[in-house]
Amino acid sequence: MKYLVTGGAGFIGSNFIRFIFGKYRDAQIVNLDKLTYAGNLANLKDLENHPNYKFIKGDITDPKLMDELVSACDIVVNFAAETHVDRSILGPAEFVQTNIVGTHVLLDAVKKHDKRIHHISTDEVFGSLKLNDNARFNETTPYDPSSPYSASKASSDHLVRAYVRTFRVKATISNCSNNYGPYQFIEKLIPIIILHAVEDKKIPVYGKGENVRDWIQVEDHCHAIDLIISKGKIGETYLVGGNAEESNINIVKMILKQMGKPESLIEFVTDRKGHDLRYAIDSEKIEKELGFSRKYDLATGLKETVDWYLANQGWVEALRNKDYQKYYEQQYKR
Ligand SMILES: NC(=O)c1ccc[n+]([C@@H]2O[C@H](COP(=O)([O-])OP(=O)(O)OC[C@H]3O[C@@H](n4cnc5c(N)ncnc54)[C@H](O)[C@@H]3O)[C@@H](O)[C@H]2O)c1
Repeated sequence: MKYLVTGGAGFIGSNFIRFIFGKYRDAQIVNLDKLTYAGNLANLKDLENHPNYKFIKGDITDPKLMDELVSACDIVVNFAAETHVDRSILGPAEFVQTNIVGTHVLLDAVKKHDKRIHHISTDEVFGSLKLNDNARFNETTPYDPSSPYSASKASSDHLVRAYVRTFRVKATISNCSNNYGPYQFIEKLIPIIILHAVEDKKIPVYGKGENVRDWIQVEDHCHAIDLIISKGKIGETYLVGGNAEESNINIVKMILKQMGKPESLIEFVTDRKGHDLRYAIDSEKIEKELGFSRKYDLATGLKETVDWYLANQGWVEALRNKDYQKYYEQQYKR
């Protein structure tokens, strides 16, 4: 199969490319990535000379380039996005451009060349659940996004569904919970905890850290995407969760305990604007219909993630650039 992976130099996309080459010897992958601050070719250093792999620097909002690349593939797997909620609050324009306009450009090319697309989305499109409640999102939950990020992802999902219904485009969508694992950019919660703890620096936690997320190890997410691509029904949406609901504060405490660091490193900071309280996913559809199961439980996944970051300090250091420092100071040292 010839894959066009967009955003393959990011966290999940690079793990997906490694997963596919590990599973399918004859897979051919073109990785199209704009290399924003979050795109990092070092994520794929071990694969850069793979005979069936090609990297192209480009933008999914470029109709000419997308037309050319989509015409030459069997399937587009769309990871390309602006992904950080906090950055979407500081400046939503890029999120609208890449996440909405970019998805539309891809859909037009997929429609023109009668190809297939799998669109990667998030559980954040459903908005917030109540704390201390048993309700979970499923495939029929109405969309109710809170942040510019989740609103832009919701818009892109609606466009995909509209192209299925109106033009019979061969598309599937997955909405996944919070991913963690190797190669996640250092601005996200779990890398921040590990990297601050290792240097005995204060760990910023929003509000009182009560917000609950469902956590999935990135390889389990990649496995789910592969199942949807190979066995999923065209036109369908699948929710993918890790079966591991945990509050932010408990995630911090679990990692500190594993690293042998004190809880006094925790520093509560002003809460994020519009911060959703709780996300939880009912993954019954993908489990029953496609046979999805997970390799990782949260404790094992977190342990391996901590070990990975500690063993890959060179990869981390290369990311501590001026843009990141400026962003970090603006975000937490107000
Ligand atoms: N990380 C999570 O917990 C999570 C959970 C659910 C869904 N998702 C979704 O999964 C996808 C990947 O997320 P991630 O965490 O790997 O993000 P990431 O920020 O690590 O990577 C995004 C990649 O997209 C690239 N990109 C950005 N704009 C582009 C453009 N205009 N054209 C081409 N490439 C562009 C970036 O350079 C980067 O390599 C996103 O669509 C995100 O919404 C993420």
